[in-house]
Amino acid sequence: MLGSALERMMYRRIVILTGAGISAESGMGTFRDKDGIWTTHRLEDVATPQGFARNPTLVHTFYNLRRAGLKSAAPNRAHFALAEFEQRARSLGSDVMLVTQNVDDLHERAGSQSIVHMHGELTSAVCASCGGRVRWEEDMSLESLCPSCGRQGALRPDVVWFGEVPHSIDEIHDRISTCDLFVSIGTSGEVYPAAGFVRLAAGQGAHTVELNLEPSANAGVFSEGLYGPATQVVDRWVNAVLSSDG
Ligand code: APR
Repeated sequence: MLGSALERMMYRRIVILTGAGISAESGMGTFRDKDGIWTTHRLEDVATPQGFARNPTLVHTFYNLRRAGLKSAAPNRAHFALAEFEQRARSLGSDVMLVTQNVDDLHERAGSQSIVHMHGELTSAVCASCGGRVRWEEDMSLESLCPSCGRQGALRPDVVWFGEVPHSIDEIHDRISTCDLFVSIGTSGEVYPAAGFVRLAAGQGAHTVELNLEPSANAGVFSEGLYGPATQVVDRWVNAVLSSDG
């Protein structure tokens, strides 16, 4: 009996990478588009340890606005389609890792699992004094107290800034080094180490797919690409892969 394309594809070790583009239609800004976040804020001021040391109030204000924006944002069709793909792939015995560069919680709210937030999360805070990490959904400031050690003024957003090491990078590299399918969604391919993942996957023979509004800086490395708004192209790709006629 002809199974779905996924069953016939027989991809058993799948890694998915997402970037700001998958959350764009949920109202969360992207960074490098013409109206992107880095056109209205200097990343040196709000996304580096040096910027935070120079002006912590500016950085807290920047992340407070983005954290507040989460409350009015909702997962879009692309997040849900991706969660459906993951669930179906796992039911067929495949291993799926979702690596996101995004600090929003829209993948979680759409039902995705085994999510690695390599650039951290807006809804988490880390204390420079005790190293404790806590869920944090409200505004943060120099007046905020660390729930773990009680210290005032030591909390920072649990977000990986430029010059800092992304989370779980060794585990991510291990999984990409052995994957047979690598799918990249909504990322410009401008920021390393994430921008290097497709070459690592392609280099060891994985099938690589780019789903993006337009060809990214790495478009030429991918086995195939589907271009358009994520709410259309992710849905289309997932339906094609999951459909019975493959
Ligand atoms: N649907 C699909 N793709 C989209 C959409 C959309 N509606 N809108 C924009 N895109 C694409 C853009 O064409 C671009 O290729 O999403 C990509 C967004 O690229 P960036 O703004 O560079 O975001 P990202 O790749 O996630 O940035 C990586 O850089 O600033 C750091 O830490 C930050 O995690 C971020 C990292």
